[in-house]
Amino acid sequence: MFEQLTPLPVDPILGLIALFRQDTNPDKVDLGVGIYKNERGETPVLASVRAAEERVLARQTSKAYVGPAGNLQFNRGMSELLLGDVFSAVESRFAAAQAPGGCGALRVAAELVKAAHPGATIWVSDPTWGNHIPLLGNAGLTIRTYPYFDAVSSSVDFSAMMDTLARVPAGDLVLLHGCCHNPSGADLSPTQWREIAALSLKNGFVPFVDMAYQGFGEGLDADAYGLRYLAEHLPEVLVAASCSKNFGVYRERVGLVGLLAANSATAQAAQSHMHSISRGIYSMPPDHGAALVAEVLMEPALRIQWEAEVAEMRDRINGLRTDFSRAMQARLGTDRFAFVERQRGMFSFLGLTEEQVLRLRREHSIYMLNSSRASISGLNRVNLPYVCDSIAAVVEEGSQRKVAGVSIP
Ligand SMILES: Cc1ncc(COP(=O)(O)O)c(C=O)c1O
Repeated sequence: MFEQLTPLPVDPILGLIALFRQDTNPDKVDLGVGIYKNERGETPVLASVRAAEERVLARQTSKAYVGPAGNLQFNRGMSELLLGDVFSAVESRFAAAQAPGGCGALRVAAELVKAAHPGATIWVSDPTWGNHIPLLGNAGLTIRTYPYFDAVSSSVDFSAMMDTLARVPAGDLVLLHGCCHNPSGADLSPTQWREIAALSLKNGFVPFVDMAYQGFGEGLDADAYGLRYLAEHLPEVLVAASCSKNFGVYRERVGLVGLLAANSATAQAAQSHMHSISRGIYSMPPDHGAALVAEVLMEPALRIQWEAEVAEMRDRINGLRTDFSRAMQARLGTDRFAFVERQRGMFSFLGLTEEQVLRLRREHSIYMLNSSRASISGLNRVNLPYVCDSIAAVVEEGSQRKVAGVSIP
Protein backbone atom coordinates (compact mmCIF):
# COMPACT_ATOMS: atom_id res chain seq x y z
CA MET A 1 0.00 0.00 0.00
CA PHE A 2 2.70 2.49 0.88
CA GLU A 3 5.10 1.49 -1.87
CA GLN A 4 3.76 4.26 -4.03
CA LEU A 5 5.25 6.85 -1.67
CA THR A 6 8.43 8.47 -2.91
CA PRO A 7 10.66 10.71 -0.77
CA LEU A 8 9.71 14.38 -0.78
CA PRO A 9 12.30 17.05 -1.57
CA VAL A 10 14.30 18.17 1.46
CA ASP A 11 12.80 21.20 3.22
CA PRO A 12 15.13 24.15 2.38
CA ILE A 13 15.60 25.15 6.04
CA LEU A 14 16.32 21.58 7.18
CA GLY A 15 18.66 21.16 4.19
CA LEU A 16 20.52 24.31 5.19
CA ILE A 17 20.87 23.08 8.80
CA ALA A 18 22.40 19.83 7.51
CA LEU A 19 24.86 21.71 5.28
CA PHE A 20 25.85 23.97 8.17
CA ARG A 21 26.51 20.97 10.42
CA GLN A 22 28.77 19.37 7.80
CA ASP A 23 30.83 22.55 7.31
CA THR A 24 34.16 22.24 9.16
CA ASN A 25 35.14 25.93 8.86
CA PRO A 26 35.56 27.20 12.47
CA ASP A 27 34.34 30.66 11.36
CA LYS A 28 31.04 29.37 9.94
CA VAL A 29 27.96 31.47 10.72
CA ASP A 30 24.35 30.26 10.79
CA LEU A 31 21.90 32.97 9.77
CA GLY A 32 19.35 30.43 8.56
CA VAL A 33 17.64 28.92 11.54
CA GLY A 34 14.50 30.67 12.81
CA ILE A 35 15.04 30.58 16.56
CA TYR A 36 16.39 33.29 18.83
CA LYS A 37 20.06 32.96 19.75
CA ASN A 38 21.93 34.91 22.41
CA GLU A 39 25.42 36.42 22.13
CA ARG A 40 26.95 32.95 22.64
CA GLY A 41 24.81 31.38 19.92
CA GLU A 42 22.63 29.54 22.45
CA THR A 43 18.86 29.38 22.88
CA PRO A 44 18.69 29.01 26.67
CA VAL A 45 15.64 28.45 28.89
CA LEU A 46 14.58 31.89 30.17
CA ALA A 47 15.27 32.35 33.92
CA SER A 48 11.62 33.33 34.52
CA VAL A 49 10.44 30.17 32.75
CA ARG A 50 12.92 28.04 34.69
CA ALA A 51 11.63 29.51 37.99
CA ALA A 52 8.03 28.94 36.89
CA GLU A 53 8.90 25.34 36.06
CA GLU A 54 10.20 24.67 39.57
CA ARG A 55 7.04 26.08 41.09
CA VAL A 56 4.72 24.20 38.74
CA LEU A 57 6.50 20.88 39.25
CA ALA A 58 6.57 21.29 43.04
CA ARG A 59 2.82 21.88 43.04
CA GLN A 60 1.76 19.28 40.52
CA THR A 61 -0.07 16.29 41.96
CA SER A 62 -1.63 14.82 38.85
CA LYS A 63 -1.06 14.30 35.16
CA ALA A 64 -4.76 13.91 34.43
CA TYR A 65 -6.01 15.47 31.17
CA VAL A 66 -6.28 19.24 31.10
CA GLY A 67 -9.47 19.38 28.98
CA PRO A 68 -10.09 20.51 25.43
CA ALA A 69 -9.64 24.27 26.04
CA GLY A 70 -6.31 23.61 27.80
CA ASN A 71 -5.17 25.64 30.79
CA LEU A 72 -7.81 28.28 31.52
CA GLN A 73 -5.38 30.55 33.37
CA PHE A 74 -3.10 30.42 30.36
CA ASN A 75 -6.01 31.30 28.06
CA ARG A 76 -6.88 34.29 30.20
CA GLY A 77 -3.30 35.47 30.66
CA MET A 78 -2.57 35.21 26.94
CA SER A 79 -5.84 36.90 25.97
CA GLU A 80 -4.89 39.81 28.23
CA LEU A 81 -1.34 39.91 26.88
CA LEU A 82 -2.62 40.01 23.31
CA LEU A 83 -5.53 42.39 23.74
CA GLY A 84 -4.28 44.56 26.64
CA ASP A 85 -6.82 47.11 27.84
CA VAL A 86 -9.22 46.13 25.07
CA PHE A 87 -9.72 42.68 26.61
CA SER A 88 -12.11 43.68 29.39
CA ALA A 89 -14.38 45.44 26.88
CA VAL A 90 -14.59 42.47 24.49
CA GLU A 91 -14.19 39.55 26.92
CA SER A 92 -17.74 38.22 26.49
CA ARG A 93 -17.25 38.10 22.70
CA PHE A 94 -13.83 36.40 22.83
CA ALA A 95 -13.47 32.63 22.51
CA ALA A 96 -10.00 31.23 23.12
CA ALA A 97 -8.34 27.85 23.40
CA GLN A 98 -4.81 26.69 24.10
CA ALA A 99 -3.22 25.07 21.05
CA PRO A 100 0.02 23.18 20.33
CA GLY A 101 2.19 26.13 19.30
CA GLY A 102 1.39 28.91 16.88
CA CYS A 103 1.17 26.23 14.18
CA GLY A 104 -1.55 24.38 16.07
CA ALA A 105 -3.39 27.67 16.63
CA LEU A 106 -3.21 28.54 12.92
CA ARG A 107 -4.56 25.13 11.97
CA VAL A 108 -7.43 25.18 14.49
CA ALA A 109 -8.30 28.69 13.27
CA ALA A 110 -8.33 27.47 9.65
CA GLU A 111 -10.59 24.55 10.59
CA LEU A 112 -12.88 26.97 12.41
CA VAL A 113 -13.09 29.13 9.28
CA LYS A 114 -13.89 26.03 7.24
CA ALA A 115 -16.65 25.02 9.67
CA ALA A 116 -18.18 28.51 9.52
CA HIS A 117 -17.65 29.32 5.85
CA PRO A 118 -16.28 26.40 3.79
CA GLY A 119 -15.83 28.48 0.63
CA ALA A 120 -13.68 31.15 2.32
CA THR A 121 -10.37 32.22 0.84
CA ILE A 122 -7.49 33.23 3.08
CA TRP A 123 -5.36 36.02 1.64
CA VAL A 124 -1.74 35.90 2.76
CA SER A 125 1.04 38.41 2.22
CA ASP A 126 3.49 37.91 -0.62
CA PRO A 127 5.87 36.78 0.76
CA THR A 128 4.78 35.07 3.93
CA TRP A 129 6.17 32.46 6.30
CA GLY A 130 6.42 29.26 4.23
CA ASN A 131 4.43 27.12 6.66
CA HIS A 132 1.33 29.33 6.41
CA ILE A 133 0.43 27.76 3.09
CA PRO A 134 0.31 24.10 4.21
CA LEU A 135 -1.08 24.92 7.66
CA LEU A 136 -4.03 26.85 6.26
CA GLY A 137 -4.34 25.28 2.83
CA ASN A 138 -4.33 21.68 4.09
CA ALA A 139 -7.46 22.52 6.07
CA GLY A 140 -9.12 22.76 2.65
CA LEU A 141 -9.25 26.54 2.31
CA THR A 142 -8.24 28.41 -0.82
CA ILE A 143 -5.10 30.53 -0.39
CA ARG A 144 -4.47 33.67 -2.39
CA THR A 145 -1.81 36.32 -1.97
CA TYR A 146 -1.79 40.10 -1.70
CA PRO A 147 1.32 42.18 -2.54
CA TYR A 148 3.20 43.17 0.59
CA PHE A 149 6.93 43.70 0.25
CA ASP A 150 8.67 46.08 -2.12
CA ALA A 151 12.18 44.70 -2.65
CA VAL A 152 13.48 48.01 -4.04
CA SER A 153 12.63 50.13 -0.99
CA SER A 154 12.79 47.11 1.40
CA SER A 155 9.52 48.23 2.95
CA VAL A 156 5.80 47.51 2.79
CA ASP A 157 4.25 48.32 -0.59
CA PHE A 158 1.14 49.62 1.12
CA SER A 159 -0.62 51.05 -1.91
CA ALA A 160 -0.31 47.76 -3.84
CA MET A 161 -1.44 45.88 -0.73
CA MET A 162 -4.51 48.07 -0.30
CA ASP A 163 -5.37 47.91 -4.02
CA THR A 164 -5.69 44.14 -3.70
CA LEU A 165 -7.36 44.15 -0.28
CA ALA A 166 -9.98 46.54 -1.69
CA ARG A 167 -11.10 43.66 -3.93
CA VAL A 168 -11.27 41.02 -1.15
CA PRO A 169 -14.93 40.11 -0.73
CA ALA A 170 -16.91 39.92 2.51
CA GLY A 171 -16.48 36.53 4.15
CA ASP A 172 -12.84 36.05 3.11
CA LEU A 173 -9.99 36.35 5.61
CA VAL A 174 -6.84 38.45 5.41
CA LEU A 175 -3.87 37.04 7.29
CA LEU A 176 -1.72 39.81 8.81
CA HIS A 177 1.51 39.38 10.76
CA GLY A 178 0.90 41.13 14.09
CA CYS A 179 4.50 42.38 14.19
CA CYS A 180 7.99 41.36 13.06
CA HIS A 181 6.88 40.14 9.63
CA ASN A 182 8.45 36.81 8.74
CA PRO A 183 10.37 36.74 6.40
CA SER A 184 10.69 40.43 5.43
CA GLY A 185 11.08 42.32 8.75
CA ALA A 186 8.88 45.07 7.23
CA ASP A 187 5.97 45.97 9.52
CA LEU A 188 2.79 47.98 9.14
CA SER A 189 2.68 51.40 10.80
CA PRO A 190 -0.16 52.34 13.21
CA THR A 191 -1.70 54.50 10.46
CA GLN A 192 -1.63 51.57 8.05
CA TRP A 193 -3.30 49.28 10.61
CA ARG A 194 -6.07 51.83 11.00
CA GLU A 195 -6.55 52.01 7.23
CA ILE A 196 -6.84 48.23 7.04
CA ALA A 197 -9.39 48.27 9.88
CA ALA A 198 -11.46 50.87 8.01
CA LEU A 199 -11.35 48.81 4.81
CA SER A 200 -12.36 45.65 6.67
CA LEU A 201 -15.27 47.48 8.25
CA LYS A 202 -16.37 48.82 4.87
CA ASN A 203 -15.97 45.62 2.81
CA GLY A 204 -16.51 42.88 5.38
CA PHE A 205 -13.36 40.76 5.12
CA VAL A 206 -12.17 39.38 8.45
CA PRO A 207 -8.63 40.10 9.69
CA PHE A 208 -6.72 37.06 10.90
CA VAL A 209 -3.68 38.08 12.93
CA ASP A 210 -0.68 35.79 13.36
CA MET A 211 1.17 36.99 16.47
CA ALA A 212 4.36 34.97 16.71
CA TYR A 213 6.84 37.60 17.96
CA GLN A 214 5.04 39.86 20.43
CA GLY A 215 7.70 41.82 22.31
CA PHE A 216 10.44 41.27 19.74
CA GLY A 217 9.80 44.44 17.71
CA GLU A 218 9.10 47.61 19.70
CA GLY A 219 7.66 46.26 22.96
CA LEU A 220 4.93 43.97 24.28
CA ASP A 221 2.23 46.65 23.97
CA ALA A 222 3.49 48.47 20.88
CA ASP A 223 3.75 45.19 18.96
CA ALA A 224 0.09 44.45 19.67
CA TYR A 225 -1.11 47.88 18.49
CA GLY A 226 -2.62 46.57 15.25
CA LEU A 227 -4.37 43.58 16.81
CA ARG A 228 -5.77 45.71 19.62
CA TYR A 229 -6.98 48.39 17.23
CA LEU A 230 -8.77 45.78 15.10
CA ALA A 231 -10.32 44.18 18.20
CA GLU A 232 -11.53 47.54 19.44
CA HIS A 233 -13.13 48.59 16.16
CA LEU A 234 -14.26 45.49 14.29
CA PRO A 235 -16.99 42.93 14.93
CA GLU A 236 -14.84 39.91 14.06
CA VAL A 237 -11.11 39.19 14.36
CA LEU A 238 -9.31 35.86 14.36
CA VAL A 239 -5.94 35.48 16.09
CA ALA A 240 -3.28 32.76 16.32
CA ALA A 241 -0.53 33.41 18.87
CA SER A 242 2.72 31.58 19.52
CA CYS A 243 4.68 31.56 22.79
CA SER A 244 7.65 29.81 21.20
CA LYS A 245 9.83 32.89 20.74
CA ASN A 246 8.84 35.34 23.46
CA PHE A 247 8.80 32.67 26.21
CA GLY A 248 11.51 30.55 24.57
CA VAL A 249 9.34 27.42 24.93
CA TYR A 250 9.68 26.22 21.34
CA ARG A 251 9.65 22.47 21.94
CA GLU A 252 6.88 22.63 24.52
CA ARG A 253 4.42 23.67 21.76
CA VAL A 254 2.48 26.55 23.28
CA GLY A 255 0.00 28.75 21.44
CA LEU A 256 -3.44 30.27 21.64
CA VAL A 257 -6.23 30.45 19.09
CA GLY A 258 -8.73 33.23 19.66
CA LEU A 259 -11.84 34.49 17.95
CA LEU A 260 -13.46 37.82 18.60
CA ALA A 261 -17.06 37.20 17.48
CA ALA A 262 -19.83 39.67 16.74
CA ASN A 263 -21.70 38.70 19.92
CA SER A 264 -21.30 36.44 22.93
CA ALA A 265 -23.67 33.72 21.66
CA THR A 266 -21.48 33.32 18.55
CA ALA A 267 -18.36 33.33 20.71
CA GLN A 268 -19.79 30.47 22.79
CA ALA A 269 -20.71 28.53 19.67
CA ALA A 270 -17.20 29.10 18.28
CA GLN A 271 -15.69 27.91 21.57
CA SER A 272 -17.56 24.60 21.24
CA HIS A 273 -16.28 24.26 17.66
CA MET A 274 -12.70 24.91 18.76
CA HIS A 275 -13.02 22.03 21.25
CA SER A 276 -14.55 19.72 18.68
CA ILE A 277 -11.80 20.60 16.15
CA SER A 278 -8.98 19.90 18.59
CA ARG A 279 -10.75 16.69 19.65
CA GLY A 280 -10.66 15.59 16.01
CA ILE A 281 -6.95 16.36 15.53
CA TYR A 282 -5.03 15.90 18.80
CA SER A 283 -7.81 15.59 21.41
CA MET A 284 -6.39 18.22 23.71
CA PRO A 285 -3.26 20.34 23.96
CA PRO A 286 -0.16 19.41 25.99
CA ASP A 287 -0.09 20.84 29.51
CA HIS A 288 3.46 21.61 30.50
CA GLY A 289 4.50 24.64 28.44
CA ALA A 290 1.19 26.44 28.86
CA ALA A 291 1.35 25.86 32.63
CA LEU A 292 4.74 27.59 32.66
CA VAL A 293 3.50 30.53 30.60
CA ALA A 294 0.44 30.88 32.85
CA GLU A 295 2.68 30.92 35.92
CA VAL A 296 4.95 33.58 34.41
CA LEU A 297 2.03 35.77 33.37
CA MET A 298 0.09 35.47 36.64
CA GLU A 299 2.90 35.63 39.24
CA PRO A 300 3.93 39.32 39.53
CA ALA A 301 7.65 38.77 40.27
CA LEU A 302 8.03 36.27 37.43
CA ARG A 303 6.17 38.55 35.08
CA ILE A 304 8.54 41.44 35.79
CA GLN A 305 11.51 39.13 35.28
CA TRP A 306 10.06 37.80 32.02
CA GLU A 307 9.32 41.26 30.63
CA ALA A 308 12.95 42.20 31.30
CA GLU A 309 14.12 39.05 29.51
CA VAL A 310 11.92 39.83 26.49
CA ALA A 311 13.33 43.38 26.47
CA GLU A 312 16.85 41.95 26.54
CA MET A 313 16.16 39.74 23.50
CA ARG A 314 14.50 42.62 21.67
CA ASP A 315 17.29 45.08 22.47
CA ARG A 316 19.90 42.59 21.33
CA ILE A 317 18.21 42.07 17.96
CA ASN A 318 17.63 45.79 17.43
CA GLY A 319 21.21 46.56 18.51
CA LEU A 320 22.53 44.02 15.99
CA ARG A 321 20.36 45.61 13.30
CA THR A 322 21.96 49.00 14.02
CA ASP A 323 25.49 47.58 14.22
CA PHE A 324 25.05 45.66 10.97
CA SER A 325 23.69 48.67 9.07
CA ARG A 326 26.51 50.92 10.31
CA ALA A 327 29.19 48.34 9.62
CA MET A 328 27.91 47.91 6.06
CA GLN A 329 27.77 51.68 5.60
CA ALA A 330 31.41 51.89 6.73
CA ARG A 331 32.47 49.15 4.31
CA LEU A 332 30.48 50.16 1.22
CA GLY A 333 30.18 53.92 1.75
CA THR A 334 26.46 53.68 0.85
CA ASP A 335 23.26 53.32 2.85
CA ARG A 336 22.25 50.24 0.86
CA PHE A 337 21.76 48.25 4.09
CA ALA A 338 20.20 51.04 6.18
CA PHE A 339 16.83 49.28 5.90
CA VAL A 340 18.07 46.51 8.21
CA GLU A 341 18.11 49.02 11.07
CA ARG A 342 14.57 50.23 10.25
CA GLN A 343 13.09 46.73 10.09
CA ARG A 344 11.98 44.70 13.10
CA GLY A 345 12.00 41.16 14.38
CA MET A 346 14.07 38.08 13.78
CA PHE A 347 14.40 38.29 10.00
CA SER A 348 15.28 40.51 7.04
CA PHE A 349 15.87 39.90 3.37
CA LEU A 350 19.38 41.22 2.82
CA GLY A 351 18.57 41.96 -0.81
CA LEU A 352 21.32 39.68 -2.19
CA THR A 353 21.00 37.64 -5.36
CA GLU A 354 20.86 33.87 -5.08
CA GLU A 355 24.33 33.74 -6.64
CA GLN A 356 25.67 36.04 -3.89
CA VAL A 357 23.98 33.93 -1.19
CA LEU A 358 25.53 30.77 -2.62
CA ARG A 359 28.96 32.41 -2.77
CA LEU A 360 28.66 33.46 0.86
CA ARG A 361 27.86 29.84 1.68
CA ARG A 362 30.58 28.24 -0.45
CA GLU A 363 33.40 30.72 0.02
CA HIS A 364 32.71 32.21 3.47
CA SER A 365 30.66 29.50 5.26
CA ILE A 366 27.85 31.98 5.95
CA TYR A 367 24.45 30.31 5.76
CA MET A 368 21.14 32.00 5.00
CA LEU A 369 18.12 31.05 2.90
CA ASN A 370 18.53 31.35 -0.89
CA SER A 371 16.08 34.26 -0.80
CA SER A 372 18.70 36.08 1.37
CA ARG A 373 16.42 35.88 4.41
CA ALA A 374 18.83 36.20 7.33
CA SER A 375 18.07 35.44 10.96
CA ILE A 376 19.53 38.50 12.68
CA SER A 377 20.10 36.95 16.12
CA GLY A 378 22.59 34.56 14.51
CA LEU A 379 24.95 37.56 14.46
CA ASN A 380 27.08 38.44 17.48
CA ARG A 381 29.92 40.81 18.33
CA VAL A 382 32.53 38.27 17.22
CA ASN A 383 31.07 37.20 13.86
CA LEU A 384 29.52 40.52 12.80
CA PRO A 385 32.71 42.05 11.31
CA TYR A 386 33.42 38.80 9.43
CA VAL A 387 29.86 38.62 8.08
CA CYS A 388 29.97 42.26 6.99
CA ASP A 389 33.40 41.86 5.34
CA SER A 390 32.13 38.80 3.47
CA ILE A 391 28.90 40.45 2.31
CA ALA A 392 30.83 43.54 1.22
CA ALA A 393 33.21 41.31 -0.76
CA VAL A 394 30.45 39.52 -2.70
CA VAL A 395 28.45 42.73 -3.22
CA GLU A 396 31.48 44.72 -4.43
CA GLU A 397 32.63 41.95 -6.73
CA GLY A 398 29.10 41.75 -8.14
CA SER A 399 29.03 45.48 -8.88
CA GLN A 400 32.52 45.39 -10.46
CA ARG A 401 31.37 42.57 -12.72
CA LYS A 402 28.30 44.56 -13.65
CA VAL A 403 30.42 47.61 -14.52
CA ALA A 404 32.79 45.39 -16.51
CA GLY A 405 29.82 43.86 -18.27
CA VAL A 406 28.53 47.28 -19.26
CA SER A 407 31.82 48.88 -20.28
CA ILE A 408 33.30 45.93 -22.19
CA PRO A 409 30.75 44.94 -24.80
C1 LIG B 1 5.04 33.90 11.40
C2 LIG B 1 5.01 32.68 12.26
N1 LIG B 1 3.83 32.21 12.69
C3 LIG B 1 3.75 31.14 13.46
C4 LIG B 1 4.86 30.43 13.86
C5 LIG B 1 4.61 29.21 14.68
O1 LIG B 1 5.45 28.93 15.68
P1 LIG B 1 5.28 27.70 16.66
O2 LIG B 1 4.32 26.71 16.08
O3 LIG B 1 6.64 27.14 16.80
O4 LIG B 1 4.76 28.26 17.93
C6 LIG B 1 6.13 30.87 13.43
C7 LIG B 1 7.35 30.15 13.77
O5 LIG B 1 8.39 30.30 13.25
C8 LIG B 1 6.19 32.03 12.61
O6 LIG B 1 7.35 32.51 12.17
